[in-house]
Amino acid sequence: MTGPQTETQTDYDRIAEIYDLYVTADYDLPFFLQEAAEVRGPILELTAGTGRLSIPLLEAGSQLTCVDGSQGMLDVLSRKLEERALKAEVRCADVCDLELPTVYEVAILRERFEGMARDEGFQVAALYGSYDRSAFEPDRSPVMIWVLEKRG
Ligand SMILES: C[S@@+](CC[C@H](N)C(=O)[O-])C[C@H]1O[C@@H](n2cnc3c(N)ncnc32)[C@H](O)[C@@H]1O
Repeated sequence: MTGPQTETQTDYDRIAEIYDLYVTADYDLPFFLQEAAEVRGPILELTAGTGRLSIPLLEAGSQLTCVDGSQGMLDVLSRKLEERALKAEVRCADVCDLELPTVYEVAILRERFEGMARDEGFQVAALYGSYDRSAFEPDRSPVMIWVLEKRG
C-alpha cells in the first residue's frame, strides 16, 4: 500500500529505509513516556511510522497498537520489533478511516489532528507549547500539543 498522501505529499514507502537516518530526535520522548506510564490498558499509536516512539514505549512496558498508512514504514517497525523480541499489534491503515474493535484509554498521534478530533467529540484537557508542558503561547511556542479527552 502506498501511504496516504497528506499535506506535503511525502511518499513514506519510498523513504522508509532511510527515515531513521534523518529523524533521530528524541526530545519529545519523555513526554510520551510520562503520558503512557499511567496507562494500564492498550494504547493506540496513530502514524507510528518506523517506531521512533513505539520502541521506547514498548520497552517501558506499554501495550501498543501501532497504525500507519505506509506499509514500508511498518515493515521497518516490524523488523525492529522482531530484532528486540518486542510485541505490538501493527496495522496498515489510513487513520482517518479506521475501524477498531478495541477501546483504548489513550491515543497518541504525532501529527496534526485537531479538526478531526473536535469533530469526533473530544475536548481539550490541556494545550502545551512545548514537550516540557509549558503553556502554549501563539507567537512563541514551537509546537502545539493537544491533550484531548472524550468522556462517557
Ligand atoms: C513524519 S512521520 C512520523 C512517524 C512517527 N510518528 C515519528 O514520530 O517518527 C509521519 C507518518 O505518518 C503517516 N501518516 C500520515 N498521514 C497518515 C494517515 N492519514 N493515515 C495513516 N498514516 C499516516 C506516514 O505514513 C508516516 O509514517
